[in-house]
Amino acid sequence: MEEVREKLAGQEYVCDRRLATVVYLAVKLDKPVLIEGPAGVGKTELAKALAAATGRSLIRLQCYEGLDEAKALYEWEYGKQLLYTQVLREKIGEFIGPTKGLREAAAALRDQEDVFFSENFLVERPILQAITSETPPVLLLDEIDRADEEFEAFLLEFLSDYQVSIPEIGTVKAEHPPVVILTSNRTRELSEALKRRCLHLQIDYPSPEVELEIVRLKAPGVGEVLADELVGTIQSIRSLDLRKSPSIGETLDWARSLVVLGAPSLNKDLIEETLSVIVKYDRDAAKVLAHVRGAAESKDLGQKEPTGEKQNEGMYEMHRSTHKHAH
Ligand SMILES: Nc1ncnc2c1ncn2[C@@H]1O[C@H](COP(=O)(O)OP(=O)(O)O)[C@@H](O)[C@H]1O
Ligand SMILES: [Mg+2]
Repeated sequence: MEEVREKLAGQEYVCDRRLATVVYLAVKLDKPVLIEGPAGVGKTELAKALAAATGRSLIRLQCYEGLDEAKALYEWEYGKQLLYTQVLREKIGEFIGPTKGLREAAAALRDQEDVFFSENFLVERPILQAITSETPPVLLLDEIDRADEEFEAFLLEFLSDYQVSIPEIGTVKAEHPPVVILTSNRTRELSEALKRRCLHLQIDYPSPEVELEIVRLKAPGVGEVLADELVGTIQSIRSLDLRKSPSIGETLDWARSLVVLGAPSLNKDLIEETLSVIVKYDRDAAKVLAHVRGAAESKDLGQKEPTGEKQNEGMYEMHRSTHKHAH
């Protein structure tokens, strides 16, 4: 497990033992992993990091409403079939012979059908690619909750046996099963049958320690003080009741923006000016602003108290204390 963690860290992916254990078991037991959690907590990134860390290729299928087998599994290459029949017209004519009636001609053609429904005319889509790949890849079925329930049902055979049935060809089974990762932003509940076939992993917003580590890794230009403050601020903003809480992606965008702006530390004005980087809805922005202003005021009040002790000056400390009050 420690090795898994280190390998992922080598790909700049920070994870705890719980996550490393699930990934380890998935690979050892040939089981798919279902990762659920809010947007932007590193679900997609885990699949990418795992592929890179194990030297496998990554095959990715982004799910959407209306996604069907033709786009996920295979499709007959209609244009090519048509072209071949055109080019081979004379040959086909010869083969059928001049004297036959329609019914006999159709029957003669039917016997040759498998010429046109062979691998030669098959377009492999991600799932079939993953099955037939010579070296087992990581197959990412991303945001499965966007696909329809029928698609989920279609996946069941593949998820339990790493095989699919193609009527014209037969059953195709993976010689070496791929590592399959499914993700869901939990916009809807997935079926029991699907969950049963997978190891289940919940990822939530990271702890301050983990988030700080991610910032240090992925936004290396950020100084110690600023990194502390910004992670503290983001964490306290997540405790507000927002339509869309800032994710790790937003933390990183914010960190990089502040570096570009040359900010050595955070203050109320800077937060206001860069707010659009971390919240995407007007109503959320208003809530965050009220929160930040409230925190700044209570800090001012705090500084007037003649306690004689050094006051906490950083926004991080400030937000930590308001965070406690909020609970
Ligand atoms: N544990 C982590 N370690 C390193 N970077 C992370 C981690 N979690 C998230 N990130 C970063 O956060 C951003 C959003 O992650 P992503 O995988 O796209 O989220 P999701 O798929 O859960 O919506 C990416 O830029 C990713 O690199
Ligand atoms: Mg994603």
